[in-house]
Amino acid sequence: MNLAPGAWSEARELIARRLGLHFPEGRQADLERGLARAFDESALREPAQYLSWLASAPEGDPGLRRLVAGLTVGETYFFRDAASFDALRDDVLPELIERRRSQGSRRLRVWSAACATGEEAYSLAILLDRLLPDRGDWKVTILATDIHVGALDVARRGLYREWSFRQTPADIRARYFRAHGSDAFEIDPAIRSAVAFAPLNLAAEIYPDLVTNTTAVDLILCRNVLIYFTREAQQLVAARLGRALTSDGWLLVSAVEASASLFAPLLPVNVAGVTFYRRPSGREPGTKPTDQPTRDRSDALPPATATAVMPPVPPAAVAVAQAVSPLEEARALADEGQLDEALRLCRAALAHDRLDLDAHLLLAAVCQETGEIPAALDALRAAVYLAPESALAHFLLGALLLRCEQRRRGALSMQTAVRLLALVPPDEPILGAGGVSAGRLLEAARQHLEGAA
Ligand SMILES: C[S@@+](CC[C@H](N)C(=O)[O-])C[C@H]1O[C@@H](n2cnc3c(N)ncnc32)[C@H](O)[C@@H]1O
Repeated sequence: MNLAPGAWSEARELIARRLGLHFPEGRQADLERGLARAFDESALREPAQYLSWLASAPEGDPGLRRLVAGLTVGETYFFRDAASFDALRDDVLPELIERRRSQGSRRLRVWSAACATGEEAYSLAILLDRLLPDRGDWKVTILATDIHVGALDVARRGLYREWSFRQTPADIRARYFRAHGSDAFEIDPAIRSAVAFAPLNLAAEIYPDLVTNTTAVDLILCRNVLIYFTREAQQLVAARLGRALTSDGWLLVSAVEASASLFAPLLPVNVAGVTFYRRPSGREPGTKPTDQPTRDRSDALPPATATAVMPPVPPAAVAVAQAVSPLEEARALADEGQLDEALRLCRAALAHDRLDLDAHLLLAAVCQETGEIPAALDALRAAVYLAPESALAHFLLGALLLRCEQRRRGALSMQTAVRLLALVPPDEPILGAGGVSAGRLLEAARQHLEGAA
């Protein structure tokens, strides 16, 4: 691809803005190779045309996917970084589970952001399977996202070769995998179906949001991806991931990505020599923050008596303080994971105005989270009745019906969403969908329909 010298900086800037990726001088050859391949496969003949296409290509555009495939690094394996998985198994997850039990809640949400071919998300699912003997009583969400849809396809298949097991303990391998053909291993179907894979560009403003199921997360793993990002993209992602956490939720990045200043106001916490970041709750005693990870396990996790710190005000608490309507307050509380209170306020908003579409949609999202599926369906049917032109309402109703195995009705709603979305310019944000564009929602609707066929 022949670009004038000035156009290279434009290309770098566009790739940083659209994908978050940073290509310093040392990686110029990777950038040139990836761009040239994507350009050759496009219908465009002029590099300048390609760059102006790149500036506005909708999320999910196949051309953008080809570029992503050529520019990203997908190296991963099961239980990558044993120390981190030991800390998760021995400290972080047991603490989260105990905390939920003591709160009388059986709800846990974890997210592998930039999961590549799925090994990290499945490793988490295996840990949770081992730590929750009463798993059937819990509502566990394991979300796994990546920008690379080809990698997600591999992840969904759940077939892996020897190289993915280079750090997998033998007992886990024997228990959760079985041989498939001469050189592959298949993950246990129960573990595979426990993980929900979805495309998500960390550089796009589509999270945290109920639509992308990225709110009130208890534990986020976002490892070995920020290292490829520009400083600006790292800052935006760090802030959004912080907001996606529930109060007292945990974030884990890789050791080389750890930075107290980048992840503030999350607090760095040393857990058995591994630095985690924790969103302070503001209501409960916090944990001992440290900028100096040590191997000492004594301050590993927040025993009830851990040193209390004055936590910074969490962003969602600010949102609650500034909220003017019950609905805005309900949304902020839902983002925080305070679902009972969010439900109460949604219902109050609806008592005030039965025709409030946003209130029905939020009520439906919160009811889904609390497991009140019939109430969620009622709220979505009301939304569709009130706003038959709302593609989002049809989409959400279709997705829930399909989840409930109501395939015919689900497919009908999803087809309506597809018809409505096809009328909207792909890059136009869908109202109430937290920044998700029409093109992206259309792509998701089509994926649902394919899955239902
Ligand atoms: C090296 S892998 C990391 C996999 C896993 N987290 C681990 O630590 O083993 C990096 C992943 O980041 C993904 N990625 C790169 N840019 C991204 C973006 N803007 N949004 C989401 N994922 C992205 C790539 O597609 C790739 O799968």
